[in-house]
Amino acid sequence: MKVPPAIRTARPSDLHELLRLVGAYYRLDRIRFERRTIAGALGTLLRQPALGRVWVAQSRTRLVAYLVLTFNYDLEFGGLEGMITELYVEVRWRRFGLGRRLIDLARSFCHKSGIDTLELQVSRDNRQARAFYKSLGFREFDRVVMAIDAAPAMPAKRVVRS
Ligand SMILES: CC(C)(COP(=O)(O)OP(=O)(O)OC[C@H]1O[C@@H](n2cnc3c(N)ncnc32)[C@H](O)[C@@H]1OP(=O)(O)O)[C@@H](O)C(=O)NCCC(=O)NCCS
Repeated sequence: MKVPPAIRTARPSDLHELLRLVGAYYRLDRIRFERRTIAGALGTLLRQPALGRVWVAQSRTRLVAYLVLTFNYDLEFGGLEGMITELYVEVRWRRFGLGRRLIDLARSFCHKSGIDTLELQVSRDNRQARAFYKSLGFREFDRVVMAIDAAPAMPAKRVVRS
């Protein structure tokens, strides 16, 4: 029988192991994985709890799942809300309740911190994750996610002919 992994808050020393899981999740969700950029952002998050929390599930010495929660301020949700930006469970550990335990932990953390709402994005075609979230009581909104680079686009160079 499999010994259930222990869930705990991630530490800065988990960075290397966590990057392996983040890479696996990004491949699955077709998100570009720029190791240096992600390592920098994740390292900052692990050292600065004001930005959010990372929880991991550990089986023996190996990390097998993680959840990233960050904070966002949105009037619609009464101010501070929790954003689940990443959740990944290794294939061999799926359907053992780890995803649910991680979400429960994030929910109770938010509740105790006075945060009323947890929000997340999920790809339309990720049916398994949508079924998972729905089974936990998440409601879907009919909205479209949009993003743009903060740096203004460079104007096209004019070709000067002599
Ligand atoms: C989605 C994911 C996090 C679920 O984690 P998990 O640990 O397998 O989920 P749990 O075992 O806690 O499942 C809880 C309930 O969710 C539902 N559920 C979970 N996986 C499901 C699936 N593939 N299809 C349908 N329902 C599912 C079930 O109701 C399940 O309860 P049950 O097993 O008693 O029937 C996991 O499949 C995963 O990591 N997927 C790849 C990464 C991903 O898509 N992340 C989400 C990005 S937004």
